[in-house]
Amino acid sequence: MIILGIETSCDETAISILDASGKVESLKFNILSNLILSQVKIHEKYGGVFPNLAKREHVKNIVPLLEQSLKEAGFFKEVSASTNFAPETLEKVQKILERETGLYENLIELVSKIEKPAIDRIAVTYGPGLEPALWVGINCAEALGLLWDIPVIPTNHMEGHICSVILGLKTAIKFPAIALLVSGGHTELVYIEDWMKYKIIGETRDDAVGEAFDKVARMLGLPYPGGPEISRLAEEERLASQTSEDESRAGEQFHFPRPMLRSGDLDFSFAGLKTSVLYTIKKLPTLTKGIKSKIARAFEDAVIEVLTKKTEVALESHPAKSLIVAGGVIANKKLRESFEELVSRYENMPLYIPAQGLTGDNAVMIALCGYIHTIKNTEHKVAKIEDMRALGNLRLS
Ligand code: KG4
Ligand code: ZN
Repeated sequence: MIILGIETSCDETAISILDASGKVESLKFNILSNLILSQVKIHEKYGGVFPNLAKREHVKNIVPLLEQSLKEAGFFKEVSASTNFAPETLEKVQKILERETGLYENLIELVSKIEKPAIDRIAVTYGPGLEPALWVGINCAEALGLLWDIPVIPTNHMEGHICSVILGLKTAIKFPAIALLVSGGHTELVYIEDWMKYKIIGETRDDAVGEAFDKVARMLGLPYPGGPEISRLAEEERLASQTSEDESRAGEQFHFPRPMLRSGDLDFSFAGLKTSVLYTIKKLPTLTKGIKSKIARAFEDAVIEVLTKKTEVALESHPAKSLIVAGGVIANKKLRESFEELVSRYENMPLYIPAQGLTGDNAVMIALCGYIHTIKNTEHKVAKIEDMRALGNLRLS
């Protein structure tokens, strides 16, 4: 089965084409195309993502990206005479795309010049995320579904992150599982009884962990997104303190709180930690590169300890047979190592982490999620595709 994945929930326009087959226990897939156009450079100067700016960029980029994706997957077959669509179909498509200036014209131009591609399903993120941004992907998917007569599967972005760990696995995921989802918008612990059976057992009460990385990076004058920058500085500091005794002592000059570590539940909070970093910085006479690295390390150590310990409590308090960690923040090497160490303390606790390159937002995970829903026959959770709408706060359930 060929699935087109569309993801526009935040600041990445992503399109993928996935060839998937087999049952969920023995999936086979081939990524025919995996394109991600990041808007990082545009949002960088604001230190965060502006929803309407993100929408504008998605509108501008989605059709060229789709065209490139079809070409990569071998589905771009030009027709000699341009395809004519029924006037009532065009009217519906125009209505769907009326709020995305220029998208209707661009999309019709593309689909008129090629043969209908051999795509069986279109999977699109409908939440959670920034609603103006989500709408672009949803409307585009709906329009394509109508023009090509292909079913559209509304897909939960967080479930997509969970699915991202499958790519590269040789064996089926052992359920029940505990999943820790760590991204720019979410920090959640999820108990997964089986595919599609999710229960959120803990979550952040304020900032998401990726958001905390980004905000602390900003305080340190580092570029957006801050996660990779903080981890790079923290790594440098660890290396430096290994080679110099003096540095090692200085490395302990900063220590930040481990919020909610003993809260007795599985929730998180990162706002206090972020504020503690802010006060520390304010008290400093200067912020040298060396000091920045030490703060980055101390902050990262605090975050990693909280994430790991809370996950350990979740594993202890649930009948879990495996651990999944997914979302953009798991690109962090030190965090990966911490979870590897955690599962090594168990007799048989596989750790599933997405391959590097699939940790952040992408559309392969969305296509894969769509495939799983198709084979599990749960693809029509939204009764009518016309009723599909952007749900900024969509939750796993
Ligand atoms: O999953 P994702 O790509 O997008 C959302 O759905 O939010 O996650 C993006 C987040 C950003 O906050 C970014 O700073 C963080 O992931 N991130 C990292 C690292 N790489 C990306 N955080 C810590 N260490 C990293 N190496
Ligand atoms: Zn994400």
